[in-house]
Parts: sequence; C-alpha cells; structure tokens
Amino acid sequence: MKSRRKIFQKRNGGKSMLSEKDAMKSRRKIFQKRNGGKSMLSEKMEEALNEQINKELYSSYLYLAMSAYSSSVGLPGFAHWFRVQVEEENIHAMKLFDYVNNQGGRVRLKEIKEPPMEFGTAMNMFQQTLKHEQFITRSIHELVELANAEKDEATASFLQWYVEEQVEEEENDNEIIAKLRGVDKNEYVIPSVDQELAKRLPPR
Ligand SMILES: [Fe+2]
Ligand SMILES: [Fe+2]
Repeated sequence: MKSRRKIFQKRNGGKSMLSEKDAMKSRRKIFQKRNGGKSMLSEKMEEALNEQINKELYSSYLYLAMSAYSSSVGLPGFAHWFRVQVEEENIHAMKLFDYVNNQGGRVRLKEIKEPPMEFGTAMNMFQQTLKHEQFITRSIHELVELANAEKDEATASFLQWYVEEQVEEEENDNEIIAKLRGVDKNEYVIPSVDQELAKRLPPR
C-alpha cells in the first residue's frame, strides 16, 4: 500500500494533493486498472465475506429477538443490553459491507433467517448467546484461513479486528453467565444483574 502511495506521489511531483481518503480511492482506481477493472477479492473470498455479512445480520436479528423476549418476561436491563448488542452486530455487518465494496467486490445480501421467539431462562438465553458467538468465532477463523490460503494479505489484516472482537464478545458472555450462576442460590441476583445490564453504553 505504501509503495503504491509513493508511486502516486511521484506522479504528482512528490506532493500529495489529496486527502488520505481520496488518495486511497485513487490508488484503488490505479490498482483496478492494473487488474483490468477487476475486484481485488477472489470469487471465493468475496462469497465467504458475503456469507459473513449475512451471519452478522442474523446475529443482529437474533439479539433483537432476545431483546423482545427479555422485555416480555420483565427484564428491561437484559432487553437494553441486547438492544445495544444489535447495534454492535450492525456495525460488524457494515464494516464487512464497506470492505467488500472498497475492494471492488460485489455485496450480495442474502435472506436472513427467522430467529426463535422463546429463549427460556436468563441463563439459557446467555448460554445460547455464547454458543452463537462461538459459532461466529469459528466462522471468522475460517475466513482468516481462507485469506491466508489465497495469499490475500489485505483481507487477512482486515479480519484481525474481528478476531479480537470475538475474544471480547465471548468474554462478555462468559462474565454474564458467571453472574447468573449465582441465581440458583440467590433469587435476588436476577434483578441485580438486570440493573447492571441496563447500564450498558452504546457502541463507540
Ligand atoms: Fe458480530
Ligand atoms: Fe463487541
């Protein structure tokens, strides 16, 4: 990337007249011309990234269903926590959406499947959340493996953000599950966990 920028800068007499963002767009055009206007993503990589967009949008849908369920069983703090998680999942999907576009690929929006309506106890619900995030983690790791196999360093590097994000997601779920474990022994734990989850801040 740096060397492409240098080539571009030399063409402009050593000076860059463009903002970093515009420079990125121009580099992209130069690169696309070199590639005969083709995407920088392989077909397989593009397909896998599109699949991941769908998985992130399903996550959003799933947590939205959990938020509605939490409201229906009188757990407004849980409902709020999942509502914030929905925003996070939308960000996960949109980051991928932008990446595919910026790499000259085609975004394909597939059908989002219907999530369940019932999630059992608060503990059951967070166990399902953790299980789903573990599935997403595996999916991200498979994407990294594919990017490496295809020698697509840009995508492998882009995906690192998701690798780290998944560590955080699983940690959060495990922490809440640990808190809910006390519930069997102490019936007052659920309202206190609910109050705590009500304080979750929107994603930055
Ligand atoms: Fe996600
Ligand atoms: Fe997160």
